[in-house]
Amino acid sequence: GAPVQADISKLELGQRMTVEWRGRPIWIIHRTPEMIERTGSLGEGVLADPESTVPQQPAYIEGHMRSIKPEIGVLIGICTHLGCSPLFRPEPDAEGVGVDNWPGGFFCPCHGSRFDLAGRVFSNVPAPTNLEVPPYRFENDDIIVIG
Ligand code: FES
Repeated sequence: GAPVQADISKLELGQRMTVEWRGRPIWIIHRTPEMIERTGSLGEGVLADPESTVPQQPAYIEGHMRSIKPEIGVLIGICTHLGCSPLFRPEPDAEGVGVDNWPGGFFCPCHGSRFDLAGRVFSNVPAPTNLEVPPYRFENDDIIVIG
């Protein structure tokens, strides 16, 4: 499949947009400084693979935010358990998640898997790995090329 361009110039802080690449939903999340800090406070014990040792991202993606720029997250929006589409529940204790101490992230309604705002999977959920990061690059500040 051909690469896909995403224009993020209108993506507001704290919001998520979706584009399609190879028939799959690609989420682009504009993370606030507070979201970055909150995500950075999660680690060992809470998350199954906080350092992303399982290659669910291109080799050039490093760091706990799993992105080229910490404030812009790019993830394949498919649960690594059985392929449902997790819900965007970015705020702590968001209504409807029903999980104590929910730190904000993505919640899969099919079997209750949880991921943080970097797509890292929590411990003790059915999904075995972090969400995938697709190959991508910044054409400029506003345009991301996926694929
Ligand atoms: Fe997401 Fe099972 S498909 S938890």
